[in-house]
Amino acid sequence: MSVDTIAINRQRGAFEEQASFWLFGYGSLLYKAGFPYLECRPATIRGWSRRFWQGSHDHRGTPDAPGRVATLVEEAGAVCTGMAYRVTPEVLEPLDVREKNGYLRFTTTLTFTDGGTDQGLVYIATEDNDAFLGPAPALDMAQHIARSAGPSGPNRDYLVGVAAALERLGAEDTHVATLMQALQEVEAGPETQRAGRLPARPGTA
Ligand code: BEZ
Repeated sequence: MSVDTIAINRQRGAFEEQASFWLFGYGSLLYKAGFPYLECRPATIRGWSRRFWQGSHDHRGTPDAPGRVATLVEEAGAVCTGMAYRVTPEVLEPLDVREKNGYLRFTTTLTFTDGGTDQGLVYIATEDNDAFLGPAPALDMAQHIARSAGPSGPNRDYLVGVAAALERLGAEDTHVATLMQALQEVEAGPETQRAGRLPARPGTA
């Protein structure tokens, strides 16, 4: 899908009529909102898993050398921990522009860690978008992340920021933990990789 997601997201609507609504963050929004919000609360959503399977041409990479950032993939029974922001509709237009590289608006049910549920909005880059990279062995993904950078900074800072935010939330995410371990081994150098805390042909994370 190589399309103008800004136009599609405008058409998708939902929530614009409300004075405020919840926006669920699971990637960079975990550690940096970059927009005004009324309140934020840790929350989970069901049926989706965080995966570093989306290419980033405009934030953590370039068109010639895209980085690897988070999206959500459907997985029955999965629970994804993130941060919910209560926002006003004005934030949507700049967010649509910022996340134009494949992310579409979806509606989902949020369960707040401190109790209660509500409907909210989440941006997801589905596998039919042109920038979707899909799975790869953990070490390959970590090497990719370690060498990538874009206008928003080094790709590794994004992964480290997500991991640190999840730790602050007390959330377990085995995919992110596996990538962090692989990144540490990549950054420690080839001796550490050969010493083999990661299997020679690691499975996908
Ligand atoms: C995030 O949760 O950080 C996010 C927001 C918009 C698009 C993709 C991810």
